[in-house]
Amino acid sequence: MPINTDAAAPGETLNDRVRIETQTSIAFVIIDNPPVNACSWETRCGLLAAIKQCEHDPAIAAIVVMGASRMFMAGADISEFDGPIRDPQMPAVIAAIEDCAKPVVAAMSGAALGAGFEVALACDARIATEDAVLGLPEVLLGVIPGAGGTQRLPRLIGISRAINLIGRGSRVVARAALRDGMIDAIASEDLREQAAQLARSLKGEKRRLRDVLVPPETEAVIEAAGVKTLAQAQGDRAVAAAIASVRKAATLPFEQALAEERAAFQDLRQSREAVAKRYLFFAEREAARVADIKNAKARTIGRVGIVGAGTMGVGIAMCFLDADVAISLVERDAPSLEAGIERLGVAYRRMVDSGRISDEVMTLRLALVSPSIDMQTLADVDLIIEAVFEDMDIKRSLMRQLGGIARPGTVIASNTSYLDLDALAHETSRPSDVVGLHFFAPAQVMRLLEIVRGADTAPDVLATALSVARKIGKTPVIARVGEGFIGNRLYSAYRLQCEFMLEEGALPEQIDAALVAFGFAMGPFAVADLSGLDIAWRTRQRLAPTRDPQTRYSDILDRLCEAGRFGQKSGKGWYVYPDGARRGIPDDETRIVIEEASRRKGLTRRTINESEIVHRAICAIVNEAALLLAEGVSQRASDVDVVMVKGYGFPTREGGPLFWAARLAPQDLQGWLSVIATSIGHGFRLGDVAATLAPLAPATPRPQST
Ligand code: COA
Repeated sequence: MPINTDAAAPGETLNDRVRIETQTSIAFVIIDNPPVNACSWETRCGLLAAIKQCEHDPAIAAIVVMGASRMFMAGADISEFDGPIRDPQMPAVIAAIEDCAKPVVAAMSGAALGAGFEVALACDARIATEDAVLGLPEVLLGVIPGAGGTQRLPRLIGISRAINLIGRGSRVVARAALRDGMIDAIASEDLREQAAQLARSLKGEKRRLRDVLVPPETEAVIEAAGVKTLAQAQGDRAVAAAIASVRKAATLPFEQALAEERAAFQDLRQSREAVAKRYLFFAEREAARVADIKNAKARTIGRVGIVGAGTMGVGIAMCFLDADVAISLVERDAPSLEAGIERLGVAYRRMVDSGRISDEVMTLRLALVSPSIDMQTLADVDLIIEAVFEDMDIKRSLMRQLGGIARPGTVIASNTSYLDLDALAHETSRPSDVVGLHFFAPAQVMRLLEIVRGADTAPDVLATALSVARKIGKTPVIARVGEGFIGNRLYSAYRLQCEFMLEEGALPEQIDAALVAFGFAMGPFAVADLSGLDIAWRTRQRLAPTRDPQTRYSDILDRLCEAGRFGQKSGKGWYVYPDGARRGIPDDETRIVIEEASRRKGLTRRTINESEIVHRAICAIVNEAALLLAEGVSQRASDVDVVMVKGYGFPTREGGPLFWAARLAPQDLQGWLSVIATSIGHGFRLGDVAATLAPLAPATPRPQST
């Protein structure tokens, strides 16, 4: 598509998205496209027109581009990526800034990401506020920078560093950007004023990055950066294209490299992976919306109390400490408390040792903890999260106690992953204050947070939970009460189908390998070994009394547990882990237990190929999702995808199980659902899969708004 940079092109006029404010000889070109100044078509038109107007105005000596509010520019408007992009496109705007006869300064606050940072790279100087975040995160959306980012950034910081940054989609804070030469200055006080000073100091001089030579580096260094980045991205197409494009900065004429970058961007934009990643971007944000609490005001949360300093409690504590929130950490006795504090210290020490935080930051975070064995210390907190052992009796009695201790207005949350939240809420005698906050292990790392809305949870309590999630950087998804809520219920259906495939002829290593090849971070049996088989065993024992004896039940896991195989922690589970190895090795003992199970059930073992493994495992999730959506446990189909991708390692490039299934041929989907129905037999319930997938059909990649 030709790019028109002529001033007369239609639509290239100043509009309400971009305005010019003049102060002496400096023109401030102000972008005002709330909420994040995404560079939409109107914004591009306005920006292009503003630059040309300033260029032709003899009273103006230099230009400062900045955002109207807290944000410079969050990037291109992603919602425009699905169809043809209207002219003027981003490269035309960028070219106008770079070719402008007068110096242009980027004054960045908030986010300067993607096309936002590309605008900054086209400017002659860059200044940012202390809190600004810069970067080219396009690969995370399945594309590469398409407006010169892969050509201009290497000229500033070198090819290998540009590969690292663009190939990982990293976001860089202003201080680090200054250190790396990505910006010229940090505005310590008034961004506008300091940007104007910087603009004046250029004295009319242009400092176009296109004229700068790429800093010299050896081929070995560049090659190593590319290999490492690509390996971490597991061969991701966009990452490979980004690396290739960055390398062209040193080998091709600038214009040719720019044209090839744009072509690669246009090609990737339409790819299945990019469509899936865009869908997830909007789905994540949609998941935080609850139609019937729009007017509820979140309660103020200052101090947080966490009961239980085991692995989960400590992980949750770190989420709050990392967000600078003071916590009370309460345990039942001194030795447990001491162990918890030690666990916390070890976790932070590990972060210091790996260079993720400094010693000073660790000290500051640990200083926010008030450890105690006195439950009464929870009387002055605004939110209490219980993270004690997953046992109904223990949790019931704790909730009863908390109901008495918490002051009026305090939100009481349970981290239960399976138990009946409504029953727990009633123990407090104030169920409207109770909500579920189901963190995923390791809590300080995993971004998913299932917020469980009980029958009596007050709207403002739910709003509080959502605001807490935002504060600690989690992706919230709302679930209603039901066995396993959303994630664990879907995962149970998935795991069950995998266990049935074991009985029918597969081995754990085959199933794990097939699902990892599909893109899961880990296979279900490796995951089970990591988290411990005993958790699932206990759940099965709890559900045993109510289980219909005619229901197909695989007891392989029970047999493994009876043999003391609890997973990595006991050195063996589905796999063996000799000498503390972290990667399991297939084991004959497990194979024998599996083959015996097949024999007991009279099943003739057969070869199950990779396609069958993948389709059965995922279609089992799809059917269960249809059931839980019909029951109202989940609000919308796209929430299910967010849960599986953010909490269970489902591959981002596939968009989630429902997004994936919506792209299967209907007859194939029906076929696999029939296989699942036959495999489960008695008690199988077929969900309305077609209705569930309808909002995710290829023509409507954005989740439906509620
Ligand atoms: N294009 C279109 N819409 C965007 C957008 C973009 N590049 N970036 C954010 N938005 C929208 C969000 O969908 C959301 O819309 P909603 O309110 O209708 O749900 C709104 O802007 C606010 O975004 P949100 O992420 O909730 O705000 P935040 O303050 O938490 O974070 C950013 C702001 C900029 C850090 C974050 O939005 C972000 O990372 N955006 C993407 C940046 C990016 O990848 N740019 C390269 C694009 S190729």
